[in-house]
Amino acid sequence: MYLLILTTLLAQTLGLAVPGVVSDINAANTVDADTLPFPSRQVFQFSQLGTWIENVAARSNGDLLFTLLQPAPQLYALTAVQSNAPQTTLLYEFPDMTGLLGITEIAPDVFVVAGGKFNGTANPIFGTFSLWQVSLAETHMPCNVNCNDGAPQPSFTKLLDLPYHVYPNGLTSVPGKPGVILIADSTGSLLRVDVNLNQIDTVAAVPEMLPVPGWPFLMGINGIKIYNGYVYWTNSFAATMYRMAIDEDGFPVVGTSYPACVTATAADADATPTFTPKVEKSIDSTNVTVETVVFMPITFMDDFAVADDGTLWITTNPNNTVVAYNQDTSKSVVVAGGQTQEIMAGANAAVFGRTDTDSHILYVVTAGGLNSPVNGTFVEPAKVMGIDTSNAKANGF
Ligand SMILES: *[C@@H]1O[C@H](CO)[C@@H](O)[C@H](O)[C@H]1NC(C)=O
Ligand SMILES: *[C@@H]1O[C@H](CO)[C@@H](O)[C@H](O)[C@H]1NC(C)=O
Ligand SMILES: *[C@@H]1O[C@H](CO)[C@@H](O)[C@H](O)[C@H]1NC(C)=O
Ligand SMILES: *[C@@H]1O[C@H](CO)[C@@H](O)[C@H](O)[C@H]1NC(C)=O
Repeated sequence: MYLLILTTLLAQTLGLAVPGVVSDINAANTVDADTLPFPSRQVFQFSQLGTWIENVAARSNGDLLFTLLQPAPQLYALTAVQSNAPQTTLLYEFPDMTGLLGITEIAPDVFVVAGGKFNGTANPIFGTFSLWQVSLAETHMPCNVNCNDGAPQPSFTKLLDLPYHVYPNGLTSVPGKPGVILIADSTGSLLRVDVNLNQIDTVAAVPEMLPVPGWPFLMGINGIKIYNGYVYWTNSFAATMYRMAIDEDGFPVVGTSYPACVTATAADADATPTFTPKVEKSIDSTNVTVETVVFMPITFMDDFAVADDGTLWITTNPNNTVVAYNQDTSKSVVVAGGQTQEIMAGANAAVFGRTDTDSHILYVVTAGGLNSPVNGTFVEPAKVMGIDTSNAKANGF
């Protein structure tokens, strides 16, 4: 038995997407994960406490890459993911940072990773963030550095510093535009970066991206994905998913009179606390249409994955669940975890497998409840879980 849900029709007359509302997500607290129609298995878990996996990407060869926010700014590869003995390899520890954030693939086996310095959990030190390129093309994994097998070595190259007062969190690639990415700036804007040109644009800054006041963390727009001509994002403490239409270059679709966005270049990135940002927040987003996709009565929505059919698979970090939302039916269901369960403790990002044999597996990474212990006390090392979603269709998803 699983939690389910109702639909609200409020927005229909406004021509907005019809938001579905999880009627009572707390009911999931009483559901045993084993009885859900979505079995899961642990793929990997660190042995030490204090680990926080922040984000995850899948390679076309089936490997996973994941970033660490704590205790060190490290990028790992997980190989033999579908075997009984997956192997974890530290690929790189990035210099001059304390933690990594989002990751996205910009060309086959070439990834961009964001990171910077934090002063305590989720307390960014502005002006310290940068984007790096990670190339694994042609390399022989899991052998990483200095493996002397004649294959190209992985390379880790700094692309550009991000201006003061930009907090890059989720990253996603614009389809068909290699090197063009959208970045969720958790201070409240949407950035577009073209790594070919070293160009940063703030392309939207709307209230739906701003941090909700009153929470201890400055955390508005967070997870971000592109699907079917829209950019979707979570506003974490609003516990709401929004979307806006974008064009094929990744710019928001607005009236033809939309003013040119403000551009900053790498030269602007000498970030110090006195740096005056050229990336302004005063962009006129008046004619950008923001649609509410779904609100859930929980505390937090974190990163998410979008399935080919448009289903949104959302992690809820302190609420220790993964929730699926079907945009066609406006149905939601908790597919794994529960407020008092450890199985999805601190689940904070997800990605579908990319091979024929695991494209139905949703890989979820966790922070082990580090910032919000389960039941107030339980924390565990960060882990990677695999949720089998093959029953999704049968259950109306
Ligand atoms: C880190 O936070 C502490 C406590 O709020 C503060 O005293 C200190 O100045 C901060 N350090 C930096 C580098 O922001
Ligand atoms: C928004 O659209 C209206 C109506 O088309 C137009 O008059 C106005 O100039 C637009 N504003 C911006 C900032 O593009
Ligand atoms: C979600 O998590 C927060 C933090 O642990 C908790 O206070 C809240 O009660 C949880 N449940 C809901 C429905 O928000
Ligand atoms: C949290 O408390 C509930 C109720 O006592 C218990 O069933 C559950 O196992 C606890 N969870 C953890 C992770 O300790």
